[in-house]
Amino acid sequence: MLPIAYFPRVCTSHFGNVIFKSICFMYDMPIVFDEDYDMFLLNGKSTTYAFGIARKDMLLSFYWGPKVSTTDEIPLVNMMGGASFTNQKGVMPLEFNSAWGMSYVENCLKVEFSDGVRSVHFEYNGYEIKDNYIKEEQIVPSTPKNSNQTLIIHLKDDKYAFEIDLYYRLYEELDIIERWMEVKNTGKSQIKVENILSALWNFPVYRSFTRLTHLHGSHSHEFQVARTDLAPGKLVLDSRRGSTGHYRNPIFMLDDGEANEENGHVYFGALAWSGSWKIVAERTSHGYTRILGGLNNYDFTYNLKDSQSLITPSFFGGFTQGGFGGASRLLHDLQTTYILPENKKDKIRKVIYNSWEVTTFSVNETQQMELAEVAAELGVEIFVMDDGWFGERNHDRAGLGDWIPNPEKFPNGLGPLIQKVKDLGMEFGLWFEPEMVNPDSDLYREHPEWVIKFPGREPDQGRNQLNLNLALLEVKEYVYNAVANILEQHPGITYIKWDMNKSICDMPERWMWYEYVKNLYEIFGRLRDAFPYLHIENCSGGGGRADMGLMPYYDTNWTSDNTNPFHRLFIQEGFSMAYTPRIMSAWVTDMGSFDLKYRFYSSMMGIMGIGANILKWTEKEKRKAKQYIQKYKEIREVVQFGDLYRISSPREGALTAVEYVSKDKSRAVLFAFKKVSDLSDDIIYIPVKGLKPDVKYIAPGFMGTVEGKAIMNQGIKTSLSGTHSCHLFEIKKQE
Ligand code: DGJ
Repeated sequence: MLPIAYFPRVCTSHFGNVIFKSICFMYDMPIVFDEDYDMFLLNGKSTTYAFGIARKDMLLSFYWGPKVSTTDEIPLVNMMGGASFTNQKGVMPLEFNSAWGMSYVENCLKVEFSDGVRSVHFEYNGYEIKDNYIKEEQIVPSTPKNSNQTLIIHLKDDKYAFEIDLYYRLYEELDIIERWMEVKNTGKSQIKVENILSALWNFPVYRSFTRLTHLHGSHSHEFQVARTDLAPGKLVLDSRRGSTGHYRNPIFMLDDGEANEENGHVYFGALAWSGSWKIVAERTSHGYTRILGGLNNYDFTYNLKDSQSLITPSFFGGFTQGGFGGASRLLHDLQTTYILPENKKDKIRKVIYNSWEVTTFSVNETQQMELAEVAAELGVEIFVMDDGWFGERNHDRAGLGDWIPNPEKFPNGLGPLIQKVKDLGMEFGLWFEPEMVNPDSDLYREHPEWVIKFPGREPDQGRNQLNLNLALLEVKEYVYNAVANILEQHPGITYIKWDMNKSICDMPERWMWYEYVKNLYEIFGRLRDAFPYLHIENCSGGGGRADMGLMPYYDTNWTSDNTNPFHRLFIQEGFSMAYTPRIMSAWVTDMGSFDLKYRFYSSMMGIMGIGANILKWTEKEKRKAKQYIQKYKEIREVVQFGDLYRISSPREGALTAVEYVSKDKSRAVLFAFKKVSDLSDDIIYIPVKGLKPDVKYIAPGFMGTVEGKAIMNQGIKTSLSGTHSCHLFEIKKQE
């Protein structure tokens, strides 16, 4: 057993003597336990994360920042005691804290034992370091390579049969740590979990890390970047909707006010959960900032019966000296290497056509076939039929839940349309919204008890629909089968768009908030296993459920119902802060008054699709569109698989510029958009990034070949005159 109050790396300044012993400890593994200091060190490629056992009932956070080579480089922590109104639990940078005694800061865990006691007096109970650790019930089924070590810290209550495991999986090459927690009832009496978060991150006191960057928005205005100075106190970002939501997204970036896109110390995190979530940024009165995140405890409790355990979603956190752009690229690499579905993550995303904005619910076989013919002519690769094909779905007041093709619209079922699309050389995709029901539907008439509501109260409707309660076993099975049956009947459907258009409310039981999401993941997982060829597009009224929790199950994400190509520059910029362009769907539509070029360039910055009324396009427009689609096919490998650089933000000036550089740095694509025609210079030099300095490239505006460093120093010369003018530039390594 570890001695209490033994931690030589701690300097007791307030109430005690300084006890500091200097031992130089070199490490040779990514995760190590330094026995001299009782300190755990997680060493990424360029960062170190360190915490230790200060007392057997206290884990302290010591360091997170640029990589150190010995423990001596880790700064001392002042053992502050506080006054009579608080104690060390309240003032020290705790690595983990439960609701206990005079700790008034936000806590990671609060439970009620069967006798009414509501504090967890935990003590350290050992650790394990495992290679390639995969746990069956883990919420995010990532696929770590052998090099990824996982540290497990075991804690237990000093009186009750209750155990807590803290997990840290290190993605060494990305300087990212994935954290989650599991709690176990090891006794017979029930334990009520009232609050359980995934992780608590502490930020160094040596600089003031108080500037928070996050994403907020609303329907059709998703992923707006907000940057704010944290005042002392708490800022809560959350969703109580049972889904991620459009309003705030579960990610954060934190810097000291000095970082920019390419330079500066930035901490970042992303919570992998698609249900109600909470991230609390707390600027303490003791000089440091802490960020906690996990399940939202609003209206939440989970009863742990005999031997039962509860596992939280993962909260990923990282550090970079490469500014906000560096942080985004690390998150993108994490997603493309570890999180996206294994069987599809390295596959090029194809060009889709979807008529939703043109036809809305008025779909039928003849019209969809006509559209398919033109789409194929243009070079589209997947034809997707959206809402309106099933039940009595002639408007949004009926039909959801009745997943049978409407006989008037499709007299011979879906077969002929699927065949036609196939004959045209395209794949076929179909829209579903399986978690919902309209009260005017056969499903609701048969099973009114399946919707989420309180007994005896009428639930709120949104878009005339109600949520099915996926937390119930029979509903989970129904939802899975509704989709699986159609896929089984039509092996020609290789793509589905899974939509979700109403937030959850009035959850009848508190544990169901959690179970709903777990069951949703299970359904997606089963679909992927049963139909491994399937491409899944995740959608929730646009980007209302974009997060890393559902990401292991889907291939693309519908970013927003706002397809105005100028608005999209803002939405896509925000999306790219946290999520890889490999999943960012962007369609060319008729929204706004923009020429084809602008619409195409704006959409080419992600997974390009078409949603415009192509039946109305003139021959000339079709010819142009065909060329743009062809161009996208030529550059999409760089866009979908490269590194993204936000060169100039639409939020900050007249110019928006985004660059994509292939991983081997042999190719780059630069998009430039001018906001309005103003008095600023039309001739602009755009400073590109990410090229190899000494390699020769062919670049626009340079004679012959030119070294990467010259292009990066001088920039790409562009003339952007006129409102909404735009350009696309390609840079290629000399063969
Ligand atoms: C909301 C989606 O975001 C749209 O793209 C479309 O699929 C509609 N739902 C259909 O109802």
